[in-house]
Amino acid sequence: MQEKILKALNWRYAVKVFDPTKKITEEELHTILESGRLAPSSIGIEPWKFIVVENKELRQKLRAAGYDQSKITDASYLIIIARRTDVRQNIANELIERTADIQKVKHEDLGGLRQMAEGGISRHDDQSLDTWARSQTYIPFGIMIHTAALLGIDAGPMEGFSAEQVDEILGLKEKNLKSTTMLTLGHRGEDPAAERPKVRRKFEDVVEFIK
Ligand SMILES: Cc1cc2nc3c(=O)[nH]c(=O)nc-3n(C[C@H](O)[C@H](O)[C@H](O)COP(=O)(O)O)c2cc1C
Repeated sequence: MQEKILKALNWRYAVKVFDPTKKITEEELHTILESGRLAPSSIGIEPWKFIVVENKELRQKLRAAGYDQSKITDASYLIIIARRTDVRQNIANELIERTADIQKVKHEDLGGLRQMAEGGISRHDDQSLDTWARSQTYIPFGIMIHTAALLGIDAGPMEGFSAEQVDEILGLKEKNLKSTTMLTLGHRGEDPAAERPKVRRKFEDVVEFIK
């Protein structure tokens, strides 16, 4: 198991060129999305949305907003990972609602959770609240990349795009969302990047044990 995981993570690289003829299945996509949905978040606020753009014309427009990166149109699936902009207004209430509903707990017994969520939110000004929400979205983003690798599916993580243009193309402002990252999924094509040895800092430079 441990060997399998590390093998998959060493096999994974950020794909530059997808093979547009090799499609991943809807079931594989669903597993990857589900692994993102199950991601942890601070206090459980889940301030994200995963938008799967299947429309070809929109993907062409998004490619233009993404410095013409071919992945955006050639991958089997394109997911936009967005953060919510209505965190202050809605997130604490939603968290209480879903916890009460799923765990079958009375609202009045969730005072501690409400206090934690409202306190966590109110200590941020608007700018830092957005940074907080934004930083949470990298958790499902990373998990989805790794789930894909474990399934033998290639992923191209992306930040290289104009968020303003992407938000405009997809009408995200009206949905109280802002794009943070893109994730393309599929199978690698003739990609010279696949042959390059992985560049990483050494384990002992990254990890420190304090005994
Ligand atoms: C948040 C994030 C944004 C990235 N944006 C892009 C991008 O826009 N275009 C691209 O080709 N690669 C992008 N990458 C891929 C990185 O360049 C790549 O992960 C890094 O160089 C390490 O290489 P590896 O993932 O192939 O091992 C991004 C990766 C991350 C995690």
